[in-house]
Amino acid sequence: MSLSAPAIRARKRRSGSQPLVMVTAYDEPSARFVDAAGVDIILVGDSVANVVLGHHDTLHVTVEEMCHHVRAVAAAKPRAHIVADMPWLSYHVDAGDSVRNAGALIRAGAHSVKLEGGQIRRSVARAILDAEIPVMGHLGLTPQSVLAFGGFKVQAKTREAAKWLVEDAISLQDEGVYAIVIEGVPSAVGTLATESLEVPTIGIGAGPDTDGQVLVFHDLLGLTNRAPAKFVRQYADLGPVITEALERFAADVRSGAFPSETETYANPEDLLN
Ligand code: KIV
Repeated sequence: MSLSAPAIRARKRRSGSQPLVMVTAYDEPSARFVDAAGVDIILVGDSVANVVLGHHDTLHVTVEEMCHHVRAVAAAKPRAHIVADMPWLSYHVDAGDSVRNAGALIRAGAHSVKLEGGQIRRSVARAILDAEIPVMGHLGLTPQSVLAFGGFKVQAKTREAAKWLVEDAISLQDEGVYAIVIEGVPSAVGTLATESLEVPTIGIGAGPDTDGQVLVFHDLLGLTNRAPAKFVRQYADLGPVITEALERFAADVRSGAFPSETETYANPEDLLN
């Protein structure tokens, strides 16, 4: 049985729980690696758009594409909870469509959905929750707001903006979300939001005091070709390891060293006579 949304809802650090660990995965092998590491939550993030599909932002991924990746992750049958991002425009137009889109992600194998925004998304969060689908919130530097923000900029840098963020977080909590991602804010705002809420916060670039932390799989393993953002800690540098292995394969093919006899099926007698 996978970790449930109510079990995650209970993981507040101030009640003695260990911090929550969330990592993205977009396919079956990466979900297997993440689950084998004992991670609590696998996020099938809409960051799939810019991390693996070659877009510049998260605005170019559809519900169908997200379902495709959720199915691949669910095929790993992880013990971890699978939360799927609702992509841009899948919950901005109409409550009925939003519920159907959330349902499609659940039928693809997610255990809950994540959506961006505070009070403005309150009614849509309510509609999805009313359909018995657990919802995770996401506030701060919400990547789907990149055009409105004028870039990927740290948010809540004034007292007033910090107060709005906390009000947004409380309104999502009052609606019934089970956890809230806080992204790209000064650490004091991560701390204030965490202290103001009964539901756990999961930070990314929100300082050390949130109830959990999330990173993108490709960022923490050094699998991107961009410089890591300030909040990323790279735990491995697998890019050069992969390139070196592929270069050795290419060299072996070109020199005739691959395949060797042990890598070749023996010829039956019949074929030799
Ligand atoms: O899509 C994603 O990877 C995310 C994280 C940045 C939290 O939403």
